[in-house]
Amino acid sequence: MRWHAHANQQLNPPTSDIAIPCQSRGIPATILRDAVVWGFHSESVPLSYSESIAVRVNLGPRSYQIPIVSHQLVQSGKSLTNWWVERDGMSSIACTLPPPSGSLWLQNKKHPVAGTALIVTDSNVATTYAATVKQSLVDCGWICETAVFPAGESSKSFDVVSGIYDQLIGMNADRRTLIVAVGGGVVGDAAGFVAATYTRGLPFAQVPTSLLAAVDSSVGGKTGINHPLAKNMIGAFYQPIGVFIDTAVFETLSDREYRSGLAEVVKYGVILDPEFFTYLEQNIAAIQTRQPEILRQVITRCCRLKADVVERDEFETTGLRAMLNYGHTFGHAFETLSGYGHLLHGEAVAIGMICASRLAERRGLIDTEVTNRQSRLLQAFQLPTSLPLSKSFTTDDVLNRMKLDKKTVSGSLRFVLPTRLGEVQIFADISLDDVRAVLNWLLVYPAAKSMMRKRRVIRLERQPFFQRDPCHVH
Ligand SMILES: NC(=O)c1ccc[n+]([C@@H]2O[C@H](COP(=O)([O-])OP(=O)(O)OC[C@H]3O[C@@H](n4cnc5c(N)ncnc54)[C@H](O)[C@@H]3O)[C@@H](O)[C@H]2O)c1
Ligand SMILES: [Zn+2]
Repeated sequence: MRWHAHANQQLNPPTSDIAIPCQSRGIPATILRDAVVWGFHSESVPLSYSESIAVRVNLGPRSYQIPIVSHQLVQSGKSLTNWWVERDGMSSIACTLPPPSGSLWLQNKKHPVAGTALIVTDSNVATTYAATVKQSLVDCGWICETAVFPAGESSKSFDVVSGIYDQLIGMNADRRTLIVAVGGGVVGDAAGFVAATYTRGLPFAQVPTSLLAAVDSSVGGKTGINHPLAKNMIGAFYQPIGVFIDTAVFETLSDREYRSGLAEVVKYGVILDPEFFTYLEQNIAAIQTRQPEILRQVITRCCRLKADVVERDEFETTGLRAMLNYGHTFGHAFETLSGYGHLLHGEAVAIGMICASRLAERRGLIDTEVTNRQSRLLQAFQLPTSLPLSKSFTTDDVLNRMKLDKKTVSGSLRFVLPTRLGEVQIFADISLDDVRAVLNWLLVYPAAKSMMRKRRVIRLERQPFFQRDPCHVH
């Protein structure tokens, strides 16, 4: 069975045209075609630090805004407060920013306290960005506490979530207590899961501080934690009331973590938007050096693309949303087998995309050049396209992990495969032999090549690498 998803045929028409003279800056107009104007943006003024763009995720009563700003984290409390007021309607706020029209905020604004908030963050950003967001909320009248857990994928766990529940009970949290995730995807996923489950739902906002969280995990309402044997296996769909993206925070992100986020950026181009893919190819240096303007365009485009998909398949029931998992069936298996945190999520996805693309080649869906273009772009961003040689697992290990993938139905694996650049389909009838062949290519070939290099054997092509199974990579 196949589900078909094609950006140009099935996704939203532009919500509105952004009024930035993008052609004059060499950015194709369509890159920005469906971003909506936010805040102080004016048609006549070129985009700068003081201006903002926003993407709106249209989900009826669960709709929300994603402002994409720079150097405005100190103001984040106002946005968070307004989103909460808009959602809650009954609150009493002493914040100076005018509330959305129709809000009851004005009627009650003499009351000094907005409510209680718990900022959930990790050890790397607790004293910087989380502290700034906290101060901004306090300035708006909030009583704030902070929950800090150790940075890293292993914190997406029962233990961490349980500790946050304890803290919420300790602060007498009720259904109006705001949970604010300040951090990367790990923080967002864990905090969102707490928000979804504590008293069956607390208002929840995201302030993503990693590129990956900004372009992917903070948007769309997937929350969750890992089972020791399977990534993201326990979770809930739970939309935030808003996502506040400040690109200035990415300046402190390590190169490796930044690159990990770029893997998801490339993914959007492959699955939905060939023009965006070309744009990435043409702006490699600017993206690598984190040029703020380019970065904001890239983030806006990714958020809009993801929002378009989520708006049509919020709960992943039609198959459309599953296409966002391109590269993830392989990627999650590599990530889990390597031990959470060793291979970064984006790195695993980069390798996974190349595997999926090779699988599509075997199936005759695409020619090699589609894979090669992805490989070249990922490598230009210094992302891996094959497994590091230190990883040690077999094709069967990978296949067994893949069977735990959430796309698996009745034990049969499903793969998101490209049918051309900018278009993917979901296939449920891929033979295990084909998957094995791709894994053998990935696992055996580099290991054998390395071994042979050590033994100074030159005639590589004569060795029967592709028949070995299971394989061990050292
Ligand atoms: N919910 C979804 O839809 C979705 C989508 C994609 C990925 N994810 C999940 O997201 C997670 C990966 O996210 P991630 O890559 O952000 O990982 P992460 O949260 O572990 O962040 C990466 C590292 O960067 C640090 N960091 C974050 N912001 C920083 C900053 N501004 N300056 C310095 N250091 C900073 C963090 O402390 C951490 O050490 C995975 O668990 C993945 O499963 C979820
Ligand atoms: Zn991902």
